Amino acid sequence: MKTINDSMTQDHRRCDELFIDMEQAIMQHRWSEADRLCREFIDSMEHHFKIEEELLFPVLLKATAEARGPINVMLAEHAQMRHLMSQLVSSLENMSRTLSAGYVDTLLVTMQQHNMKEEGILYPMADKAVPAAGDAIAKAYSESV
Ligand SMILES: [Fe+2]
Ligand SMILES: [Fe+2]
Repeated sequence: MKTINDSMTQDHRRCDELFIDMEQAIMQHRWSEADRLCREFIDSMEHHFKIEEELLFPVLLKATAEARGPINVMLAEHAQMRHLMSQLVSSLENMSRTLSAGYVDTLLVTMQQHNMKEEGILYPMADKAVPAAGDAIAKAYSESV
């Protein structure tokens, strides 16, 4: 059985790889490719957020009230990343290398810090409190790939 941390961390890495491809296209001014890769990256991030927000977080919250604080922090950071991603889309539409590079940098730092907190604190907490959710999450990923 795959743990929650295994499935979710693997998905973080997949989003990271898409991010790197997008970043390279932006840096090299390959705008139409950057636009396509950005869409792909955002779709993957939204899918990841959906699994957390609609599956993992509610199950964890039901099992342990002490998860409320960390979950609220994660939700606020999702909102922050969604905002950055929409700003990135606008900057790509305007083919602004300076603006898009700025959003890419801020997004990278925000993602890294967010993922570190989830992988180090929240997912281990979930594996302990609701280990059975690991199967549901692994299933959700196998059905969506
Ligand atoms: Fe998250
Ligand atoms: Fe995550």
